[in-house]
Amino acid sequence: MATTKPPDLAGKTILVTGATNGIGLEAAVVFARAGATTLITGRNRARIDAALTGIRQRSGSNCVEGLHADFTSQASVRKLAAEVLARCPRLDVLVNNAGSVNPARTLTGGGIETTFAVNHLAPFLLTNLLLERIAASAPARIVNVASVAHTRGTLDFDDINFDHDYRIMRAYSRSKLANVLFTRELAKRLAGTGVTVNCLHPGTVATGIWGHGAPDSHWKRALFAIVMAPAKAFMLTPELGAQTIVYAATSPELADRTGMYLEKNLPKQPAPLALDDELARRLWDTSAAMTGLDSD
Ligand SMILES: NC(=O)c1ccc[n+]([C@@H]2O[C@H](COP(=O)([O-])OP(=O)(O)OC[C@H]3O[C@@H](n4cnc5c(N)ncnc54)[C@H](OP(=O)(O)O)[C@@H]3O)[C@@H](O)[C@H]2O)c1
Repeated sequence: MATTKPPDLAGKTILVTGATNGIGLEAAVVFARAGATTLITGRNRARIDAALTGIRQRSGSNCVEGLHADFTSQASVRKLAAEVLARCPRLDVLVNNAGSVNPARTLTGGGIETTFAVNHLAPFLLTNLLLERIAASAPARIVNVASVAHTRGTLDFDDINFDHDYRIMRAYSRSKLANVLFTRELAKRLAGTGVTVNCLHPGTVATGIWGHGAPDSHWKRALFAIVMAPAKAFMLTPELGAQTIVYAATSPELADRTGMYLEKNLPKQPAPLALDDELARRLWDTSAAMTGLDSD
């Protein structure tokens, strides 16, 4: 895949969630280098500060700010949205990138399965809370980092928390299916506003997320590291993995394209379940109820 050189982004403001590492960090470097005021989020102050130093050094830009938000907490997401609204008179691009995998089933403080909470409900809530500001900045874009893993995802509204038969990839795939369904439903709701929303698979990328998938016992973790080391040699670098984010966020070719799923900078048909409009509507209503938002 050819590297995407973004247009001049001077005067634009871009928010990238989960940019302390991996493809979010690399996308933030590209945006800052192209002149955008770039806001990043992370869940750990030290990692946010380290990322800010790196992004400023590599991009040569000082217009980079870091905000704290832990996506396992809806209160933290709401605080993040309030900070963004207070700091940013405009928001041209929102990149919903933060994500995680969880080897064991855990619940957030709000009693929601963590993978679904972090990968789907947090960006659902954040996007809705920022939507007016994004619409007021139109033409504007929302980019959701999904995954090809969505093709293996299912949605069981009677067991959204995986009370039964939790498995790491079942939970991850469900959250990524939700990303694609959310993208398509939001695109419909935003028709005619000048705001586009697209989602993407970044490729298989050697990032920190593979470490989160490591088992919890010491010897299993060591074995996992041995198995992952050669596998990582076949993965994309985070710089290349960030390319589809940069493309979706900035390419003039996509100015009016919305509701798409992209792989390698090309629109691709997502899985049949991801095209189910009724499922997308039901997910929206369920997500609104789970985040305390009005469904409209
Ligand atoms: N890598 C791949 O092959 C691949 C493939 C398909 C899709 N994706 C998607 O790409 C996105 C970025 O992942 P990555 O591969 O770049 O992984 P990564 O290196 O682990 O980066 C994930 C980012 O999300 C943040 N994050 C994780 N849990 C969070 C939480 N509870 N609250 C707030 N922030 C949190 C991380 O913060 P910390 O630095 O504190 O951990 C980090 O900044 C994810 O949505 C992932 O699903 C990745």
